[in-house]
Amino acid sequence: MLKELSTVTSLRYRPEFHLAPTFGWMNDPNGFVYFQGYYHIFYQNYPYKPEWGPMHWGHARSRDLIHWENLPIALAPGDDEDTNGVFSGSGIVKNGRLYLIYTGHHYYGDNNPEHFWQNQNLAYSDDGVHFTKYEHNPVISQAPSDSTHHFRDPKIWEYDGMYYVILGNQSQDGLGRVIIYRSENLFDWEYLGELAKSRSVSNEGDMWECPDFFAINGRHVLLTSPMKIESQQQKFRNLYQTGYFIGQYDYAKNQFKRGKFQELDNGHDFYASQTLLSPDGRRIVIGWADMWESEFPEKEDGWAGMLTLPREFTLIDDHLFMRPVTEVHTLRGRVLGSGNLPSVQPLLNGESSTVEIQLTLAAQNFNLCFQNSQEQDIISLHFDAANQEFQLTHHAHPQDDRFATIEQSSEITLALYIDKSIVEIFVQNGAAVFTERFYTNAPPVIRINGNNLLGHFMIYQLDAQ
Ligand code: FRU
Repeated sequence: MLKELSTVTSLRYRPEFHLAPTFGWMNDPNGFVYFQGYYHIFYQNYPYKPEWGPMHWGHARSRDLIHWENLPIALAPGDDEDTNGVFSGSGIVKNGRLYLIYTGHHYYGDNNPEHFWQNQNLAYSDDGVHFTKYEHNPVISQAPSDSTHHFRDPKIWEYDGMYYVILGNQSQDGLGRVIIYRSENLFDWEYLGELAKSRSVSNEGDMWECPDFFAINGRHVLLTSPMKIESQQQKFRNLYQTGYFIGQYDYAKNQFKRGKFQELDNGHDFYASQTLLSPDGRRIVIGWADMWESEFPEKEDGWAGMLTLPREFTLIDDHLFMRPVTEVHTLRGRVLGSGNLPSVQPLLNGESSTVEIQLTLAAQNFNLCFQNSQEQDIISLHFDAANQEFQLTHHAHPQDDRFATIEQSSEITLALYIDKSIVEIFVQNGAAVFTERFYTNAPPVIRINGNNLLGHFMIYQLDAQ
């Protein structure tokens, strides 16, 4: 028997305005959808221990994408179609009913976690709280014949009166790809073939997880999380990547002409993102603010993992920008500090662990650093003006820095959102973003150093209540 759901034992690392599991484990965001006046987010959840286990869908909803209300677990595994896990998937509203489409995960029972098979299933709800699994599941019972057993993470959308689903998949020749299906009714699916495929394991990966596909500015974007891309000097340095291809999709021919794979977030902790189109037309993305095989010190406190802030995408030329949704400003409380640089130091002296920092600086070399109470650097962000390059150093990831190069500019803007054990750093209005988890016993001291510092800053307390 599984033990009762338990409670978190310490709030020291617990975020206040990022979504984290009430207890236990969280990975990918799932089923990001707007339904009956609420944004709903589901997530991969093991609610009995802060470890990955037979996956459930945890659930929360929000009126503004920032203040989340936890709801009961939406989907639990153990039925014939999802014996060993309810894996990632997505949501869609049809005729006033909310549908979830998810992967059923099944082991062959020989104690080898790599021996599994996967199928695709539906569940639905009329109140957005209680879910019923569709009685004729699965709706897609097996992977195409030229594929391996990696066949998961359906993302659904509607276009021109038809429904489309894409799936993360691996072809038999060992390359990652995304395959596409079409349906008139959500229940009967026709296989259309490949939407896109990796050109080589080292450059584009051997398995593409958590795909998403959408139109923006008259172009199409395929977002996905490939495994096994080889890291380069300054790119693709996480265990697995999340990134995108920009291109043009022809629905009639099922042809997606796409460019190169580009990393979405430059930080150590970002994976498996999913988007929704908000009622006012914004394409909003949310990701898992962690990485597989990380240490997760919060496990000691009974939970593991959190989601990023929801971020709005804009496409400028061939580059996706991410900015926190404007609703985040509703969190602004009193001003903790403001002024001109370099006169005020440190910027923040451990006053708070939930803050927003806005900085505008002349484009000169500088170093922004977070320190713990022993004055040790936890995270530092160095800007090299000659190369227009950012370099982020993290004490928990020695010799494993992260980088971002920006367009030539005389001015640098930074926006930092700090929430206990996470910081999201938005560079140049979202041209680059570093998502980083960090662990300190007291709120960090934040300083900025440089020889020719010139600029100003503003710091807000953020209040989630
Ligand atoms: C991505 C992923 C998905 C899968 C889920 C299982 O992080 O591996 O492909 O559905 O996590 O929890």
